[in-house]
Amino acid sequence: MNRREFVKSSMALAGTAAVFNLCSAEGFAAESKNTSGTAKEGTKKMSNKCMVVFFSWSGNTRFAAETIAEKADADLFEITAAKPYPSDFQKCCDEAGPECRGKKDRPINPIDGLDLAKYDVVFVGSPNWWGTLAPPVRTWVLQNRAALKGKTVCLFQTHGGGGMQSLGRDFAEAVGDGATVLAPKAFSGRSIKNSVKELESFAASVLAAAGRSAGNCQTDVFKTSSGKEVVLTAIKHASMRIQYDGLEIQVDPVAEYAPATDYSAFPKADVILVTHEHFDHFDRDAIAALRKDATEVIANPAVQKMLGFGVAMTNGDSRATVKGIKLDAVPAYNTTPGHTQFHPKGRDNGYVLTIDGLRIYIAGDTEDIPEMANLKDIDVAFLPCNQPYTMTPEQVAEAARTIKPKVLFPYHYSQTPVKRVAELLAGSGIDVRIRNYQ
Ligand SMILES: Cc1cc2nc3c(=O)[nH]c(=O)nc-3n(C[C@H](O)[C@H](O)[C@H](O)COP(=O)(O)O)c2cc1C
Repeated sequence: MNRREFVKSSMALAGTAAVFNLCSAEGFAAESKNTSGTAKEGTKKMSNKCMVVFFSWSGNTRFAAETIAEKADADLFEITAAKPYPSDFQKCCDEAGPECRGKKDRPINPIDGLDLAKYDVVFVGSPNWWGTLAPPVRTWVLQNRAALKGKTVCLFQTHGGGGMQSLGRDFAEAVGDGATVLAPKAFSGRSIKNSVKELESFAASVLAAAGRSAGNCQTDVFKTSSGKEVVLTAIKHASMRIQYDGLEIQVDPVAEYAPATDYSAFPKADVILVTHEHFDHFDRDAIAALRKDATEVIANPAVQKMLGFGVAMTNGDSRATVKGIKLDAVPAYNTTPGHTQFHPKGRDNGYVLTIDGLRIYIAGDTEDIPEMANLKDIDVAFLPCNQPYTMTPEQVAEAARTIKPKVLFPYHYSQTPVKRVAELLAGSGIDVRIRNYQ
């Protein structure tokens, strides 16, 4: 059945906001516990049921909405003004102008059959009116702000030449905290019918981002000494995201290593850490997608040289990054005979981040090396688990007994039976958490 048949318009009825915050912790309510007084956790997997809701005056946004809904296999709903706008362009502009400039509500009709609770991903479509959201769209978002919490939401808009203008910002503001707001997209209204490919690719990239960032990702929340939250998100393999006090830190972001990750849908990073130059850790495109003027890119010397920018840290280096976060570069290398060529001693980095007292050790590609005994007071450790490149589960358990973290995340495990790490550490007092790093 064509998606057009799913339009749930309320026209026949009588009468009747987050900064980019992917993987919002509020969306993950399944579990909550304290670990050694430092860690609270919440994880959830979502089915990513999608819907598209839109307002359209002359049909362009409707066409975009229908195309996106078709591609995303989403249910489609239309927002309508309780009192329709005049069909004459000038009169419509005259009526909408003061509403847009004053950010006034425009009463809207209830949408028949829409139960937001059923959806994980919400596409919202608006025409660009006076550089901002059409008032019925803004009204709908504000009315549904509470119900949007925990969902992944994304704005698309059609315009008459002005492009995005303030719509993305106004949309994020209207959605508010607690939702995952993906990067908005603007389409030219005039050429909308020739933009089917772009609309479809937008729909696909939102779904991919939702899949990697909200749907399938797992998030753990830890508290710093002064009670601030540090949110750790498993992206895949060696890639993870750390959020703290409005900061975005990405570790070894890699876009194409399967499953693909659309880093353009993530907020720009304040800090990007790269452990070494292997393709599953270093990806120029992912760095380009995440980088803004002020991004501090920190890498081992080889990667810094390849990039031609950023800061090189070598084993033993220490520096303060944004908001007083202390960063120590520590050794990461192979010791097993025949494996030492993978990660030779002295080349690659592991990192220890000290964030307001919370100490996080990201080991990089390493085996259980003697230098691990020097790591003190580690709250959270990420240890890699895939021989021949890194460690066996037995080596990870050995390393963990040396480091004694409160919480251990085995990562970089590919097909290794990583549950074995938890079995080996049973009774050790170390909280082993297996997250989706595949
Ligand atoms: C009241 C009104 C105000 C508009 N203001 C702008 C604007 O500020 N910038 C812009 O690029 N286009 C503006 N447009 C053009 C529409 O954004 C564009 O034609 C859009 O594709 C219409 O979408 P629709 O067919 O879904 O209503 C305006 C159109 C109307 C009716």
